Amino acid sequence: MTQEELQALQSEAIAQVEQATTIQAVQGVRVTYLGKKGKVTSLLKGLGKLPKEERPAAGAKINEVRVAVEKVLQDKQTALEEAALAAKLQEEQIDITLPGRKAPQGHIHPLTKVNELIQDFFMKMGYTVEEGPEIETDYFNFECLNLPKEHPARDMQDSFYITDNILLRTHTSPVQARTLQKHEPNSPVRMIAPGKVYRWDYDATHSPVFHQVEGLIVDKDITFADLKGTLELFLRHIFGEETKLRFRTSYFPFTEPSAEVDISCVMCGGEGCRVCSHTGWLEILGCGMVHPNVLKLNGYDPDKVQGFAFGMGVERIAMLLYGIGDLRLFFEDDVRFLQQF
Ligand code: DAH
Repeated sequence: MTQEELQALQSEAIAQVEQATTIQAVQGVRVTYLGKKGKVTSLLKGLGKLPKEERPAAGAKINEVRVAVEKVLQDKQTALEEAALAAKLQEEQIDITLPGRKAPQGHIHPLTKVNELIQDFFMKMGYTVEEGPEIETDYFNFECLNLPKEHPARDMQDSFYITDNILLRTHTSPVQARTLQKHEPNSPVRMIAPGKVYRWDYDATHSPVFHQVEGLIVDKDITFADLKGTLELFLRHIFGEETKLRFRTSYFPFTEPSAEVDISCVMCGGEGCRVCSHTGWLEILGCGMVHPNVLKLNGYDPDKVQGFAFGMGVERIAMLLYGIGDLRLFFEDDVRFLQQF
């Protein structure tokens, strides 16, 4: 092979290396020229056919080509490997300056908040917190509370019946009966009972499920003055010290005498506005002295102990505290509403 032919072979090999864009392509060029049956390798193998004295010079020339091609191959391979690594690093790069993704933050539901306010107050006054089942018997929901079957006051509470004797409780008052029956007869009781209640009702101020907090205190010498003092402290704690109270006579089968308590309107302070229907007052809870029959029906002796009881709607209190116009908002789980609390 002439010097020119050798040069051409070298140029051809180098041109192919330059065109290679992948490591596999570089390997291919290597096999073509430097592999066992490669073009340069074959030339080296053919040296034996040359006369002895020509072999060293020819061998040296072919070897120069081999070294030159090898170097270009090696450089190209290194360059491709570095480029691949750089691309990989670029691809996997984490931008630590990007702001993190925030998990949406929850809020305390306004009803939970008001429930906590109420419980907190009464727990500090030494009341226990009692619970009762939401699926209740006719016996506890009505009968133990001086509401025998066919009593017309049962119509005050449109009920969801499951069977003739089982219903979704219409109020938290059955927890009064359950708590009294749990205690030694005539032993003191001082409890509140928060929980869900159910009535057949649905509009802007009524929901078929809503929340009440019941209160009951039974002991020796409990008077209506204790009832007034307790509720006055409580309602001023919730609605502000300047809140005025009004006790109106009312009727509940489980209390005698019974009263409904109004507070001076939280919106207008008593001047009269749309919220209080221009009366200056807002009805807030029912209460009274525990009816002697209720004490008797639950194993207590009304000649030995007396008590007072009260019951309030949590939704109503939350609506007045936060100025919420539609009770259904509490149950719609709209984050735009809930985020405000
Ligand atoms: N249970 C009554 C209701 O759901 C509220 C109530 C009124 C509870 C007077 C009482 C009470 O304990 O003394 O409307």
